[in-house]
Amino acid sequence: MPLTIAFDVYGTLIDTSGVVTALEKHIGHRAEPFSNLWRTKQLEYSFRRGLMQNYRDFSVCTSQALDFCCQTFQVELGAAERVDLLESYRYLPAFADAKQGLERLKASGFRLFAFSNGKPDDVRNLLAHACIDQYLEDVVSTDEIKSFKPNPAVYAHFLRRAGACGAEAWLVSGNPFDVIGAISAGMRSAWVRRAPQAVFDPWEMPPSLTVATLVELCERFQANPA
Ligand code: LAC
Repeated sequence: MPLTIAFDVYGTLIDTSGVVTALEKHIGHRAEPFSNLWRTKQLEYSFRRGLMQNYRDFSVCTSQALDFCCQTFQVELGAAERVDLLESYRYLPAFADAKQGLERLKASGFRLFAFSNGKPDDVRNLLAHACIDQYLEDVVSTDEIKSFKPNPAVYAHFLRRAGACGAEAWLVSGNPFDVIGAISAGMRSAWVRRAPQAVFDPWEMPPSLTVATLVELCERFQANPA
């Protein structure tokens, strides 16, 4: 059975800091800290909703996090500007290495999936717009069980949907909380260290593998496929 690889989407294949350009139009030089807080709050809202078992989909977490940031930064957005910013989240760019990495992994015979908190249609559109959808066998969304990462149930859901077992399946993610969630749920997991200064949470579960890019991931898997 070839290795099954689940790719996290936001922060791994797709660059969420792509909203900075759209934000600059509205809030100038504060775009970068605003974008960082937006992403942090979006994830926090997904964690809290998961724990509270009060599910609203990931696009709601994104839009409520935007409203939180506007209040924090004291930015007043018109209705059209707000729509424009949320639209930019639907058309974020892929990281520069994503296409080549996926292409090589697929050519090497691995089974590749997208695995995300995002709603299936949102993820499909995002990946198609970024021109990387053709390498992926399917999109698996945590929305299918109305929960979010890192609930262990969502990793079990991925394995069921992909027809794989934990030992033969990897999660690849730029998000340390996602890597730890997958390892805790019995999968192996590679951390894509998207920035040299990124810190991995110092818990008792280090990544099975750390790489800087998806091309490096492919080289490491080709050298040692299990
Ligand atoms: C995702 C979030 C965690 O794509 O980035 O699932």
